[in-house]
Parts: sequence; C-alpha cells; structure tokens
Amino acid sequence: MSRLAPRDQRPQRIAVLAGDGIGVDVTREAVKVLDAAVERWSLPIELVHLPYSAEHYLATGVALPSGQMESFRDDFAAIFIGAYGDPRVPDMRHAAEILLGIRFQLDLYINFRPCKLYDARLCPLKGKGERDIDFVVFRENTEGAYVGMGGNFKKGTADEVAVQEEIHTYKGVERICRAAFEWAVANGRAKVLMADKSNVMRFGHDLWQRVFFELAKEYPSILASHMFVDALCMQLVRAPEQFEVIVSNNMFGDILTDLGAALQGGLGVAGSANLHPGRVSMFEPVHGSAPKYAGTGQANPVGAILSASLMLGELGHAEVAAQIERAVASSIRAGRTTRDLGGALTTSEVGDELAQAVGFAAGVRR
Ligand code: NAD
Ligand code: IPM
Ligand code: MN
Repeated sequence: MSRLAPRDQRPQRIAVLAGDGIGVDVTREAVKVLDAAVERWSLPIELVHLPYSAEHYLATGVALPSGQMESFRDDFAAIFIGAYGDPRVPDMRHAAEILLGIRFQLDLYINFRPCKLYDARLCPLKGKGERDIDFVVFRENTEGAYVGMGGNFKKGTADEVAVQEEIHTYKGVERICRAAFEWAVANGRAKVLMADKSNVMRFGHDLWQRVFFELAKEYPSILASHMFVDALCMQLVRAPEQFEVIVSNNMFGDILTDLGAALQGGLGVAGSANLHPGRVSMFEPVHGSAPKYAGTGQANPVGAILSASLMLGELGHAEVAAQIERAVASSIRAGRTTRDLGGALTTSEVGDELAQAVGFAAGVRR
C-alpha cells in the first residue's frame, strides 16, 4: 500500500491498546513482530502500552481518561488496537468510547480494509485463486448509521418507537470517495465501485450517487461504477475477481469487509487502517474480541500483524511493511498457521515464527 497519511515525526511513538478478549492475545504477537522489525532495521519507533480495556473500565469506571484523546492526537504518530468487546460490559459502553471515540473524535474518515487471498487453499469459493481476490474497501468511518443519533419513545412498552438516524454529509461522502479514487490512481488500479442502497434510501444514498459520479469526472483514467449493496454481496461471492476498489458507507463497509475477510480465509487474516491523511492514525484487525477463544492459543494473530504492517507503511517504512506482509504470505503458504487456517500452531507460535522471519529478513532499502 502506498502511504495515505504521510507524517514526518521522529521518533515515532505508537500507543498500543490490546483491549479485550483475543485482542490481548493477537496484540502480544503483533508487538513481537514490531519489536523484531524495530531491532532489525533500527526503526525510530517507541511502543507505549496503555491499559484501557473492559477490565480497566470495570475496575475504575473510566473507559478513557480525560485528556487521552488529545494526547493521542498530539503525542503519538499512530495507535494500535487489538479488539474491544467483553460480555461483562453488555452495552459495549467502553468500546464505543474508545474505538468509535478514536475514529470519530480524531476524524479518521478512511477505514482502509484490504482483502487479499494469500493462498488459494483458504478460499471458500470453488475454483478461485490468489489472483481472483485482491481488492480494497474504503469504508466511510465518521458518519452514516454510526453517529448514534436517535432515541426511544415509550421504551419497554408494546407501543415502543425507536428511531436511529443515518447521517450523510456532502463533505463526508466527497472525502471518502476522493480517497478511493486517489488510492486507485496512486496504486495502478483501473476501477472504483461505489455500493449503496440508493433505490431505497432516496435521500442519503442519493447523495452518494451524485457525489461519486460527479467526482469520477476528475478521474478519467478510472472506470467508476455502481452496484446496490445486495447485488454486490452476490457478486463478491460469484465473481470477486471483478473488484479492485470498493467504496461504501460506514455500515455497508463494515458488513462487506466481514464478507471480504471470509473470502481471504477468515476474520483472523484481515487487517485494517483508520486514517486521516496527515494526522495520527489507528490500526486494528477487522475481527472482534472473540471472547470464547481468549487465552486459548487459538486466535490467529495474522490480522493484527498485517495491521501492524499497514501501520509501518503509513509511518514511512514501506519496505519493512512489505517484508512483514511477505513473511505472513509465506508462512500461510507453508501451512505454519493457527487452526482456523488449517494449521496446528498456537497464537504465540505463529507470532514467534513471524517475528523470527522478520528479524532475519534480508536488507531493506530505506
Ligand atoms: P469476532 O470477530 O470477535 O468473532 C467471530 C468469529 O470469528 C469467532 O467466533 C471466530 O470463529 C472467528 N475469529 C475472529 N477473529 C479470529 C481470529 N483472530 N482467529 C481465529 N478466529 C477468529 O466477532 P463477534 O463474535 O461477533 O464479536 C465478539 C465481540 O467483539 C463483540 O463484543 C463485538 O461487538 C466485538 N467486536 C469488536 C471489534 C473491534 O474491536 N474492532 C470488531 C468486531 C466485533
Ligand atoms: C469493526 C467492528 C466495529 C464496527 C464494532 C465493534 C463497533 O465491527 O471494526 O468492524 O462496527 O465498526
Ligand atoms: Mn465489523
């Protein structure tokens, strides 16, 4: 991936929030790989571990202390997150404050989610190989159905009414669509597809239609097209090779990227970046905290490690990022994986092997 959020800040401090459940397990392995990379190439990176999690919230009543968001913004080059979600906090209050808080308050409007098949064996689709599944999703990350606007009337009665608003702004739609087009141009891609449900959502998604196709005129080298999101889901399963860059709203982007993760072998393989070019950015695997697997050694750390690779790319260490991705790809092809990908290794064995591969990797042009 080319850099979407160039920053020139040395040394680069990274806030590491392992979070809950398997977030803790996979972050430990991503940190091993990061440490190996930092040592191997003397990267000017400092990891700062922060305890904010369900455990911390239950013990203190505080999800994120006041001033922490400003500190992320001012004192760090990037944030790395494991996952959030704990059955002891059923309303996900802490996760909303931390995860969605970071995305919204730091205005990280690009949720960049690559979907790439590293070994044909992992694809659940008949007859599809590595060349068929290699697309990226640009998920709008600051508005849509995630704004939390709404309310209840007569809550808890048979007459209850619940309203949950979707917000789409010209500015919000324009900047995510532009990011998708710009990335396509910078990365030699020929097609950008926008997915919405404008046949039903006649106001909000109609805005997406108008903005996307107006913007497309500025990018004559790119084939801009559209599908309704239901048809897109069908096409992603039927013929995923037709997609290069997909842009969509917050909720559809969330759903499409779980589908995309399944095409690449499962949620354990998918990494992501939350970006606002020129500002602090946040990196996290696409999966959640999978509480029942926490501490069992079954969690696949690859999604977290690929997120760490995306982070190094954004921080200006593109060749190191590529080395990590190559190490992941060859370990998957060699079957050196956790159970979800058919292997027999534990979470920490995968992390150890990848850290070792990265630590011994051949020189990097810097
Ligand atoms: P999940 O992603 O945690 O797990 C769903 C299933 O996917 C798991 O049961 C497991 O079979 C598989 N899986 C996920 N990650 C894996 C990995 N690394 N290795 C191997 N298999 C893996 O989704 P869920 O069960 O719907 O949600 C659990 C909690 O996580 C909820 O509280 C949810 O809100 C939260 N969540 C958080 C994030 C995040 O922090 N970014 C993302 C999604 C869900
Ligand atoms: C994701 C997750 C989050 C989302 C949840 C945990 C709020 O599913 O990052 O994909 O919906 O964005
Ligand atoms: Mn999701």
